[in-house]
Formats: sequence, C-alpha cells, structure tokens
Amino acid sequence: MKEIIRADHSGFCFGVREAIEKAEKAADQCRGSIYSCGSLIHNKLVTEKLARKGIQVIQSPLEAEAGSTVIVRSHGEGKNFYEIAEKRRLKLVDATCPFVARIHDLVRTAKEKGKQVVIVGDENHPEVQGINGWCGDSAIIVSSPQDAKQITEDDLFVVAQTTIRSSVFDQVLRALEETGKTFSLTNTICHATSNRQKSCMETAKKVELMLVLGDTQSSNTKKLYDISKKYCTNTHFVENIKDLPLKEVEKCNRIGVAAGASTPECLIKEVIANMSENTLENNNEMNSMDALMD
Ligand code: F3S
Repeated sequence: MKEIIRADHSGFCFGVREAIEKAEKAADQCRGSIYSCGSLIHNKLVTEKLARKGIQVIQSPLEAEAGSTVIVRSHGEGKNFYEIAEKRRLKLVDATCPFVARIHDLVRTAKEKGKQVVIVGDENHPEVQGINGWCGDSAIIVSSPQDAKQITEDDLFVVAQTTIRSSVFDQVLRALEETGKTFSLTNTICHATSNRQKSCMETAKKVELMLVLGDTQSSNTKKLYDISKKYCTNTHFVENIKDLPLKEVEKCNRIGVAAGASTPECLIKEVIANMSENTLENNNEMNSMDALMD
C-alpha cells in the first residue's frame, strides 16, 4: 500500500499568505492602475492569477503612474523606494513581512550607532537589497565563511536573510570568531524557513521518492530541493502538475511531499490528488489519505 507523507511544514508561510490577501483585496477595491514592484512572490501560478486581477508588475516605482496604487511585496523595499513613492504620491499597500520589517529596524539602528552591518545572504536577492537600503546601502553582504574572512572592518552587526540555511549563518559566525572580530548579531532567519527545511529533511529520510513542489525561481524552494537531495537521491522538483514523475510514483511505496513558502495550496492538493488517483488506478488500493493533509 502506498503512503504519501506531506512534510509537517509546507506551503505558504505567514508573510506570503498575508501579502497575497492584501494584494487581492487591493486589486478588488482599486479603481485605477495597480502595480507590484517585482513579482509579488516567486511563483508563476500565483503571479498569473494576480495578473488576471489587473496587477501589473513593474521594476521600479518610477514606472508607476503618479497617484496609482503600488503593492510592496513581502520581501520589503529599501528606504529609497518609500522616498520615491512619496514624491510621486503613490498609494502604497505595504505587504512587507513583519519579520523583514524588523530587520530593517535592526540595521537602521545599528547604522545609527556606527556599527558596520553585515548581511549573511544572497546579494542579488531583493530582500537583501531592501535590507541594505535601510543602512544607506553600506552593508557588507557575505554568503560563505570565506567571504566573512575577507572582512577588514570591525565592530560588526550581523543579520541574516530570512531564508538562508542556519548552517550557513553558523559557519559565517564561526569564521568571524576565528578572525577575532568584535561583533554582535541577531539571528533573523525566519522559523517558517527553518521549519520547512527541517521537516523536508525529516520526510526525505523516510521515503523512496521525494517531490519538492514550487517554482524554480523560488530560492527557498530550491534550498528545500538541495536538502532533500542529500537524504533522498530520488528527489524531483515539481513546478506544476505536468512535472509529476508518474513512472517513479508508480514504482515507489513511500512518497514524500515538501513545498516552499511560496507554493500555493492548490498545487500541493493537485499533486497529492493526482498521485492518489494514479495509485488507485494502478494498485486498486486505498491510499492512507489521512496522511495527506496538513
Ligand atoms: Fe516572512 Fe518568513 Fe515568510 S520572513 S515572508 S514569514 S519566510
């Protein structure tokens, strides 16, 4: 009998769910043009739905019509963004995740105290760029212990991109200790991320086939995939239902499902339902459906 195990923590995190609800409500109420600066989340299924509701994606607040509505996504924006928005009389729907907004406050205060801010994360990620924008774009951004060892400044204040792996943050801190730097820190890794990573790992250890659901552009989903692959080599990325590896599903009896924080519930349910249908067709047995739902 096939068993499908859904990772305990999977799918939309709190910040993403809030952002989408705010965006949908704003789109329903808005009479003029409405934009989001960058894709609201890294998931095509969701952004296509929002586009159908009239939300246009722009890359800068300068592209929005003066006086129009602009959604600030959960990744947050730098201070400069708000200054431009004010000058252009944009109506902001601020969906910055409160956990990200807290990092903005932390780095702004650290900068005011004369500390050198260090962000452990990906310099190209919009969240990191937004955080940097609250300390005058003066942060040192590191993504590895090797980067940390190159830092020449002292009196550092270290924060993390919310979605990085705890092990990377710990390695960077150890590297800073080894160089003898003076530093203080706030571990700003979001629990939603670490919970998803941990439960993905635990699920991957128990199964023959692991499916990681989400968009290939989503960094947190890609990280789940990497973690899963370490513990279950038979791991597949499923961006939409067409990617479901049906032959593997047929062969395996214990199948795990994990999903990134930007993966909509509809995809998770569709994948699970599809596997259940196939299981029923092929084995003529009932699935343990109780294990399927969160
Ligand atoms: Fe916020 Fe954490 Fe999600 S920072 S956007 S709740 S991954």
